[in-house]
Amino acid sequence: MQPAHPKSILFVCLGNICRSPLAEGVLRQKVKENGLADRFLLDSAGLGAWHIGSRPDNRTITVARQHGTDITDLRARRIAPEDFYAFDLILAMDRDNLRDIRAMQPRDGTAEVALYLEYCGVGVLKRSYEVPDPYYGGADAFEDVYHLIDKASDILLQKLR
Ligand code: 4NP
Repeated sequence: MQPAHPKSILFVCLGNICRSPLAEGVLRQKVKENGLADRFLLDSAGLGAWHIGSRPDNRTITVARQHGTDITDLRARRIAPEDFYAFDLILAMDRDNLRDIRAMQPRDGTAEVALYLEYCGVGVLKRSYEVPDPYYGGADAFEDVYHLIDKASDILLQKLR
């Protein structure tokens, strides 16, 4: 049966310029390719304020483009209390993000909050379920993050479609 309303998912990392916009963009692309655009509402946000209004990091844009996804339209924003009522699911990229999201979660917030890779069942590095922060890494770190996110996005699509 078709869900009554689109599934809304907010991806969250620290800066909202590397991991979470990539997670948003890659799933958006898969959703589009599968003709499911009306079934999902996707967004991303950061916990920090440093990059509000910025495009994703150039290295994120590059790795996405190399794999056929354009994310240049995305702009960083900070997670807000309203998000806990507006989204069905809030997915944290690492455990620090998860802790910080939970710390600001309103008592009556309706969103389910989970660790992104754990929710998708994609275990890495002794099943840590964390997407490593590539910000201080090189292009290879971004490539590794892309592959994790690509795998997780396929599973998310299957799980939630
Ligand atoms: P993200 O990566 O959380 O995946 O967007 C980072 C981006 C910027 C910073 C840290 C992590 N920063 O410290 O500015």
